[in-house]
Amino acid sequence: MAIIAPSILAADFLRLGDAIEMINRSEAGWVHCDVMDGKFVPNISFGIPVLEAVRRATTKILDVHLMIVEPERYLSVFKSCGADVLTVHQEACIHLHRTLQAIRDLGMKTGVALNPSTPISTLEEVLPLIDVVCLMSVNPGFGGQKFISSVIDKTARLKQMINTSKSSTLIEIDGGVSMANAQTLIQAGADILVAGNFVFTASNPVHTISELANIRPMVNI
Ligand code: DX5
Ligand code: ZN
Repeated sequence: MAIIAPSILAADFLRLGDAIEMINRSEAGWVHCDVMDGKFVPNISFGIPVLEAVRRATTKILDVHLMIVEPERYLSVFKSCGADVLTVHQEACIHLHRTLQAIRDLGMKTGVALNPSTPISTLEEVLPLIDVVCLMSVNPGFGGQKFISSVIDKTARLKQMINTSKSSTLIEIDGGVSMANAQTLIQAGADILVAGNFVFTASNPVHTISELANIRPMVNI
């Protein structure tokens, strides 16, 4: 069973408390929070006060996805916000090894996100330091974009790399996830599925989360 991480970027911010309460009631394992700075990505989302409020209300793992330049400047700030998993972009980190070590030293799980154009080989040397690789299946910056299907093969290759290195790194897929691609992603090796619009535009989001959470890989007979 995959871990489902609803992305609150797609929630109605006027009713954020209701969205968090819905996630609490659901089979979601994580709550995914997209922090954007208008520089690494061409959009600005939300930041520290919102994360603090989500932390107070959620019973789930707080999964913070930083789409910001120089994320190393803010690691302890996000720790104070209550992040459990802190994901930085490979493309935003000149000293990725040092940044990952610093995240672990602060007591958080490490995440590294890869843009669709960034090869998985860029992570080979640091794989033992990564708890979660977040493969972007859209170009980061906006919710509700079309799923880029080449991530399926990328997921399978990353899974192979993880198995070969005997590391316990998990694979998270972020962007355009829906019932139309979730089964294939899980089959390819995805452990965590982020879902924004697919969950929040559903007539019954709790049910939609349950459907995603209960997909099983097909058994080859
Ligand atoms: C995109 C964000 C995603 C986004 C996913 O930059 O990182 O987490 O919220 O939303 P959907 O599922 O609508 O593509
Ligand atoms: Zn995200």
